[in-house]
Amino acid sequence: MKTPMPLRADTLPYRKPELGKHYWIKDNILPDPFPVVERCFNKTEWTMGAPWRPEAWPGMRAPNALMPEELAVVEDLVKSQIGVRALRPQGAPVDGISGHNHVQIVGGGEAVARPHVDSSKLCDYAGVLYLHPYPATKHAGTSFYRLRLTDGTLGGNICPLPYESLSQIPGFEQGSDLSMWEEEIEVPYVFNRLLVYKSDIVHSATAYFGWNHELGSKRIAVVFFWKTVS
Ligand SMILES: [Fe+2]
Repeated sequence: MKTPMPLRADTLPYRKPELGKHYWIKDNILPDPFPVVERCFNKTEWTMGAPWRPEAWPGMRAPNALMPEELAVVEDLVKSQIGVRALRPQGAPVDGISGHNHVQIVGGGEAVARPHVDSSKLCDYAGVLYLHPYPATKHAGTSFYRLRLTDGTLGGNICPLPYESLSQIPGFEQGSDLSMWEEEIEVPYVFNRLLVYKSDIVHSATAYFGWNHELGSKRIAVVFFWKTVS
């Protein structure tokens, strides 16, 4: 077996993210979004992530956000846009972290952007559906980043196979925070917008919103993780 070229942070590959090729935006994806918003805000069983528990996922989350027929609308769109036969959703929880078709609610004081890639073991495409009908700011969608090198120039943005995540690449062992990255593309938070993207591109929620205890004030999104079957 050929040994892959060892990567370092400063040799991370770069691929300019292109709309319709590496990421896709579909507005008004759900034909009837308000019952979905209501259902998601009214879930009763939540898993608490950061800052309440020491884990990578911020805020609170709950499974089964979309019903099968709603999920089918999303997946049909994704399959036709990226041109694959089937999508295999992320399966059983790995390391106790599951996420596919979860609703995630994160307040403005609970987390900041944290550029990362999604584990290539779990998915090669990810999706996010913004569900707040009246977001406090539109600058709370999803951003794509590229590395800022020590000499001030810009570096890469892709975590290629066989690497599963940035933490496996020398230079990122201590984690990845916003100060290491330059935002390249911002996809604004728009109600009932679906964003789908290749999950090996470095990305993050741009920001979170909602600064009081009321759940309904916070950033709400449904997240998806798929492996494609072509
Ligand atoms: Fe992600």
